[in-house]
Amino acid sequence: MENNREKWSSNLVFILAAIGSAIGMGNLWGFPYKMGVNGGLPFLLIYLAMVVLCGVICMGVEMAIGRKTGKSPILAIGEVAKKFKFVGWFGTLSAFIIMGFYSVLIGYSLRYAIGFAAQLLLNLDGFNGAASGAEFFVAFTQEVPAVIFYTFLTFALCAVFVAKGTEGLEKFNKVGIPGLFLILVGIIVYNLTLPGAGQGYTFMFTTKGLEMAGAKFNFFNAVRTAGGQMLFSLSLGMGAMITYGSYLSKEESIAKNAWIIPAFDTLAAIFAGIAIFPAVFATGNDPAAGPGLLYMTMHDVFTSMGAVGNLIGLLFYVLVIFAGISSAISLMEVVSASIIDGRVAKGKKTERKTVVMLVALAMFIISVPICADQLGIPGEGGAFWGIYSYLADGSKDLLDFYDMLTEGFMMPLGALLMCVLVGWKAGFPWMKDEVLADGKKWKMEKFFQICVKFVTPVLMAFVLVSLFLSYLGI
Ligand code: PFF
Repeated sequence: MENNREKWSSNLVFILAAIGSAIGMGNLWGFPYKMGVNGGLPFLLIYLAMVVLCGVICMGVEMAIGRKTGKSPILAIGEVAKKFKFVGWFGTLSAFIIMGFYSVLIGYSLRYAIGFAAQLLLNLDGFNGAASGAEFFVAFTQEVPAVIFYTFLTFALCAVFVAKGTEGLEKFNKVGIPGLFLILVGIIVYNLTLPGAGQGYTFMFTTKGLEMAGAKFNFFNAVRTAGGQMLFSLSLGMGAMITYGSYLSKEESIAKNAWIIPAFDTLAAIFAGIAIFPAVFATGNDPAAGPGLLYMTMHDVFTSMGAVGNLIGLLFYVLVIFAGISSAISLMEVVSASIIDGRVAKGKKTERKTVVMLVALAMFIISVPICADQLGIPGEGGAFWGIYSYLADGSKDLLDFYDMLTEGFMMPLGALLMCVLVGWKAGFPWMKDEVLADGKKWKMEKFFQICVKFVTPVLMAFVLVSLFLSYLGI
């Protein structure tokens, strides 16, 4: 079905935007550490298999649903099969929840970038005289109004771009994504000069990480960890790629784009590891994952580098901000586009600016409990809310809970249901028709067909059940 919906100005900007959505915090703090503690190279191979057997397939499925219907997730999925419409709602809810913690992390990064900029450019003390990364981070996370302020700033920044539609998304990604790769490569090259950096490569690529975590290689554990990570990292299972695909013109190749985006995302994840770990080990720091690594540890790393650390630190947090915002704008776009499409369907004006402002405001409200939870640092299970402690062992915080809910449950379920929708309900010819639009060729057609019907749903079901069990400690 054709419609006169706005379109990306070229395939390149679509690829940049989709890569921008994919590369984010997941690549920076999640992948390298998970690779290290799950077996190094064997984990990488399992991850690559997951990307090929599920990531590429789901990417193709989502882009096809989006482009064929020309709509955002709720209406798009509803158009393919009414009974599956709830999958679109589910995805939109996931976008809300992910943005709830994502925005807070970008807000933290803004504070760190400002701190390092103040030290570098104005010779000021950018971190209130804190003696260590941990001291500053704990104090900063406890300053809830400041955290709320930086989170608000993040939403304002994202809204400026999303309010302009594809034009705004293009503008950000055209600068942000090449900039991100440039800074990554710069830091990787700098790392080569650090004495003791070799341990970082060893941690990531050999079984040393497993030994440090006191664990033995566990194939099933590696598969479920790789599965959840792959979905989060590629922004799959919740409709982001349906939304971006809906702006894609029929002249462009879904078959090719479904490979290009995962390839760059995986490259960025590996680059992130070799940009972060050598410096962490060279300065005698702990590689543990999560906000702790991104803020406390990396802060110590830059401080211990001396004067040049201010420059590398500033570049690093600008990198995190680029990666974060290009992902966050896709989350905001999923929800905004759904509302806009709903308005258009009712014959109303789009009012994109107002819609985006209201969406940003609603998402901001969801993020406030995360700001107030202070990452659970001062007390067991979260300073204020501790919701997670009712569900697990009490050592986690609200951010972990939001993350578990999305990466561990909503995304694998969404991916599974979308495969069933296209592989079984609508049927493979439905997808084939879209991929072959405009006289395209599809070399891997048979492979896609087998995966979308059998391999991907089975693997997604495994990831869904086993990740859920792992959260219950099983
Ligand atoms: N892919 C992002 C990351 O790896 O950090 C997270 C994400 C962004 C997930 C956008 C979903 C999404 F729609």
